[in-house]
Amino acid sequence: MNTPQVHERKPIPGITDLLAISSGKGGVGKSTLSANLAVALARQGLAVGLMDADIYGPNIPGMLGLSEKPTVTQSGMLVPGQAHGLRVISMGLLIERGAPVIWRGPMLAKMINQFLFQVEWGTLDVLVLDLPPGTGDVQITLTQSAPLTGAAIVTTPSALAIEDVRRGVGMFRQTQVPLLGIIENMSTFTCPTCQHTSALFGEGGEALARTFDTPLLGQIPLDPQLRLCADTGIPLVVAAPQSPASQALVQLAQRLTTALAGARI
Ligand SMILES: Nc1ncnc2c1ncn2[C@@H]1O[C@H](COP(=O)(O)OP(=O)(O)OP(=O)(O)O)[C@@H](O)[C@H]1O
Ligand SMILES: [Mg+2]
Repeated sequence: MNTPQVHERKPIPGITDLLAISSGKGGVGKSTLSANLAVALARQGLAVGLMDADIYGPNIPGMLGLSEKPTVTQSGMLVPGQAHGLRVISMGLLIERGAPVIWRGPMLAKMINQFLFQVEWGTLDVLVLDLPPGTGDVQITLTQSAPLTGAAIVTTPSALAIEDVRRGVGMFRQTQVPLLGIIENMSTFTCPTCQHTSALFGEGGEALARTFDTPLLGQIPLDPQLRLCADTGIPLVVAAPQSPASQALVQLAQRLTTALAGARI
């Protein structure tokens, strides 16, 4: 395996914090959480951007109901899309819907750098980056060239998740990106009929956080509405702000704001 080196990371003028949302394994809810978190941060009064760094599988536009192609300024900068108070860039906005992206590493790296440095982000308090799963080319590029303030690792509460989380923790430590903590998604399920709450996949977040000596930033319940909302393009924190999952997301956004401030150099 190539060991990613710590390169010089150029600051992005106008952007205070860059927050990476990552996971070792796919399908744990990174994009769903990134979209909802970004909106929750915007609702706290922050200027927020959302960068869909999943070039092969861009899900963010669909989750935010965004489809307009970004325009390009005379100086060749991409103008981000606007949705739910966020500035958004995604490969999904640049290609036809469902079209495959079949690129090698260097092309990916080029696109990631374009998303960082050739988008008219303007002034942002925080740019949220929704990463693809794992520790591949996108992660290497980002940890090398983006001035990440910190990263959070999303996991589901399964005992098997430990090795996936370990890889993520190892990557961020090796590249000297501050690890802000772990987010446990799909933690519990409350039966809509009898209101009984159960830990469907077991309880692992607390133990994982202890193992890696990092905070457990939040536990988001399993809520079918989160998926339904993602499918309709209206994030849960907008569609049902009072729901327990929304409240957990808002609390998570607050914790992340504090953690970012603490990690800022
Ligand atoms: N807390 C939750 N409750 C119910 N469904 C959820 C929850 N979180 C995510 N989901 C659903 O799980 C599926 C996977 O979520 P999502 O696409 O956000 O994961 P991901 O980690 O970004 O996946 P990938 O690694 O492929 O990018 C989606 O259908 C989403 O709606
Ligand atoms: Mg995703």
